[in-house]
Amino acid sequence: MKKELVVVYSNSGKAFALAQDYTLKNDADLMRLKVRFDPKGFLRYVYWGYKVTFKKPVKLSGIDKDLKAYELITIFSPIHAGKICAPIRSFVFSNRSYLDKVKIVTVHLAKDTDYRDAVKALEDELIFKFSEFDSRIVE
Ligand SMILES: Cc1cc2nc3c(=O)[nH]c(=O)nc-3n(C[C@H](O)[C@H](O)[C@H](O)COP(=O)(O)O)c2cc1C
Repeated sequence: MKKELVVVYSNSGKAFALAQDYTLKNDADLMRLKVRFDPKGFLRYVYWGYKVTFKKPVKLSGIDKDLKAYELITIFSPIHAGKICAPIRSFVFSNRSYLDKVKIVTVHLAKDTDYRDAVKALEDELIFKFSEFDSRIVE
């Protein structure tokens, strides 16, 4: 049983590759969140843009680890429309009571920001505090 669990949602696999690399380097367990409908190409911008903008809940599967059993949970979250993406928002929202020490890593294309403000917005909305913050740029 590892001490750290890495949680990731990834549409294209880019955020997943980063999470996988981090998992290996930190001797952690990895859990990939799955969603029922995950369109590719242009449609993903419309679909996920809508979900995140209107704070729509997302039904998740793939939660096959005991969240309470880990000392640290590290979440890799793609940024959608300047915000923490809808699947990660739903994950934190639904599991708040089981989450203690949680690090969040934003994953994004923009090179001129780390989206710390998006993390702050989610903290304010969910009345939840992340214990650590980091960010990664994807191409
Ligand atoms: C709907 C949508 C909105 C996005 N908005 C932003 C954005 O505001 N800023 C940014 O830097 N990247 C944005 N991106 C790029 C994603 O952050 C990037 O593709 C993602 O981190 C890679 O994750 P993936 O593995 O889920 O594809 C957006 C992507 C999508 C699909």
